[in-house]
Amino acid sequence: MRKSVLISCLLQLGADAAPVVPTEGDETQHSIEAQKLADPTYGPIPGESEIYNYYWGMDRPFPGNISDPILATEQGPPGVDDFTWQNLLSAEWVIFEFYQRAVELFREEDFVTAGMPNTTYRRIQEIRNNEAGHLRIFQNQISPTSVKPGACQYNFPFKDPVSFMALMTVLEISSMAFLTGLVQQPKIDAGKGAMLAIAEVETRHEAWALIDIWKADPFGGPSDTVFPYANEVLDTTNAFIVPGSCPPENPEYPHPRQKLPALSAGKDTPSLTPGSKISLDFTNPKNQPRFDAHGQYYAVFFHGVINASVPIDVSQWPQKEIWVTIPANFETKGVVVAVVATKPGAPTKESIVAGPGIILEQPAELATALLRGGASRALP
Ligand SMILES: *[C@@H]1O[C@H](CO)[C@@H](O)[C@H](O)[C@H]1NC(C)=O
Ligand SMILES: *[C@@H]1O[C@H](CO)[C@@H](O)[C@H](O)[C@H]1NC(C)=O
Ligand SMILES: *[C@@H]1O[C@H](CO)[C@@H](O)[C@H](O)[C@H]1NC(C)=O
Repeated sequence: MRKSVLISCLLQLGADAAPVVPTEGDETQHSIEAQKLADPTYGPIPGESEIYNYYWGMDRPFPGNISDPILATEQGPPGVDDFTWQNLLSAEWVIFEFYQRAVELFREEDFVTAGMPNTTYRRIQEIRNNEAGHLRIFQNQISPTSVKPGACQYNFPFKDPVSFMALMTVLEISSMAFLTGLVQQPKIDAGKGAMLAIAEVETRHEAWALIDIWKADPFGGPSDTVFPYANEVLDTTNAFIVPGSCPPENPEYPHPRQKLPALSAGKDTPSLTPGSKISLDFTNPKNQPRFDAHGQYYAVFFHGVINASVPIDVSQWPQKEIWVTIPANFETKGVVVAVVATKPGAPTKESIVAGPGIILEQPAELATALLRGGASRALP
């Protein structure tokens, strides 16, 4: 029985239906288990279960061990915020799998050998468990008339504890930034509150890494960075998804998707701190910007609750690299989000033509080390 057939049976049978008996192999078994997750009271409940905190196994914790999408169990229009939560759930699969991969790949002693505290592996397990809780929370926020996206296959560019921790630091601060935008999307106020609570958890993860791993000042200035176009940040995580590997039932990720050219500071950039001159690198050869040679473009930098725009000269690109100075009056704290836009201040998402690029300011040495592909140089 194909999955979709099975599910339309479930839909027709309604709530008091007899249990559907799997007739074929494992795949059907599995999607039946996935369908049980449509009931928010099924399985461990975040906020009540210690699985989402103190599970020290290497296997995937619930619901990360059930990767199939959960199909709609009711007919009708989608809930008003379903797209937003579907986007967040798809992003959460990336993050959950990122930590799960580290839990499987490394052991406690690997981190100790790399010079990190002997509690590091356990902390990573606990973060992994928190992320599993996020999966469950986001599944439950999507209404029964919409599909709850399942897991894809992922590729993460880390191979050792230091490169893992470096990427973790960037991912956590990126999630803090994109949640400031995503929280502006839900129509239902309680959803905004739930998102803020999730952003706070990512902040705790980030603060831990700054203190324990990088031995840095954990504070990020009076305000973390607000970036209003959350889907653009989410889109950058498509770089971790194996093309074509997502379940066909999953919605477009993110929805709506602009497919903007990826933006990073060039490898030859000596420093990423405010006041530094950086070259703009459009890192995906298959998705390059198309500039109007006579048009005026701006690099727009977001930091804290403000942004600053610097005119850039694109008339000779790609023959000549584009160089721009990160506003010198920004503090060297937290993160700077950079985009290329057709208007100062990037007032609409449509005004953005490339990016966002996430520029880590803290620890600053880590940011430049990452550009050169050698995070270990930044370890204290
Ligand atoms: C997933 O985990 C839950 C809770 O630990 C368990 O009951 C269930 O059998 C697991 N399912 C799979 C497919 O591993
Ligand atoms: C972990 O490290 C701490 C402080 O460095 C030390 O006191 C403790 O004994 C260590 N624990 C284990 C299990 O090695
Ligand atoms: C950037 O700052 C300007 C000036 O304060 C503001 O008008 C604009 O809305 C900001 N852009 C975004 C995307 O918030």
